[in-house]
Amino acid sequence: MLSDVEIRPERPGDEAAIYEVNRLAFGREAEPRLVDALRASTAFIPELSLTAEQSDRIIAHILFSRATIRTTGGEIPVLVLGPVAVLPECQNRGIGSQLIEAGLKDAREMGERIVVLTGHPRYYPRFGFKPARPLGIDYPTPIRDEVFMALELTPGALDGIRGTLALPPAFDDV
Ligand SMILES: CC(C)(COP(=O)(O)OP(=O)(O)OC[C@H]1O[C@@H](n2cnc3c(N)ncnc32)[C@H](O)[C@@H]1OP(=O)(O)O)[C@@H](O)C(=O)NCCC(=O)NCCS
Repeated sequence: MLSDVEIRPERPGDEAAIYEVNRLAFGREAEPRLVDALRASTAFIPELSLTAEQSDRIIAHILFSRATIRTTGGEIPVLVLGPVAVLPECQNRGIGSQLIEAGLKDAREMGERIVVLTGHPRYYPRFGFKPARPLGIDYPTPIRDEVFMALELTPGALDGIRGTLALPPAFDDV
C-alpha cells in the first residue's frame, strides 16, 4: 500500500490528465477514447471513475460503468470494470491493485452486486474474479473464455442467472 497515493473520484478538469494516463498506459488512443465516450454516455457513474494522485499529479485511473446481463427473465444490472491504467513509470508498485480494491469497495457500498471485465487471467483472480462463462454469463462476441471474468460483490448474486453480457455501445469501437 502506497501511503502517498490519494485515490478519489474524478473531478471536472481531470479529463485531459485521465486521457493522457490511458494513452500512455495502453500506448494507443482506443482506451482513452473509450473513457471519453463512456463519460458522455448513460453508462457513466461519476463516483466510480477513480483517479490515483501523487504529488498533485494523476498517475492512474480506473473506470466502472453500467452494463447488463440479458436473460430470458429480463436484464440484470452489472458493472463493467475497465479500462484501468497506470502510467508506465508507475506500474508494478501496487497502484493498479489499490485502484481496483478501492473501486470494488465503493461499488459494494453503493449496493452494486456483480462486476465483469475482460483482462489478464493471471492478474484479476487475486481480486476474486473468476471465469464468467462457467458462472452462466456469455460474452457478446467470440472471446477466449479465460479473459472474461466476473465477481459477485454479494455472495450468490449470480445464482440462477444465465444470459449474455450487453455492453454500452462505446465498447463497440475498441
Ligand atoms: C495492468 C495494470 C493496470 C496493473 O497495475 P499495476 O499498478 O502496474 O499493477 P500492481 O502493482 O497492482 O500489480 C502488479 C502485477 O500486475 C501484473 N501486470 C502488470 N501489467 C500487466 C498486464 N498488462 N497484464 C497483466 N498483468 C500485468 C504484474 O506482472 C504483477 O504481477 P505479480 O503481482 O503476479 O508479480 C498496469 O500495469 C497498466 O496500466 N498496464 C497497461 C494497461 C493495461 O494493460 N491495463 C489493463 C488491461 S486488462
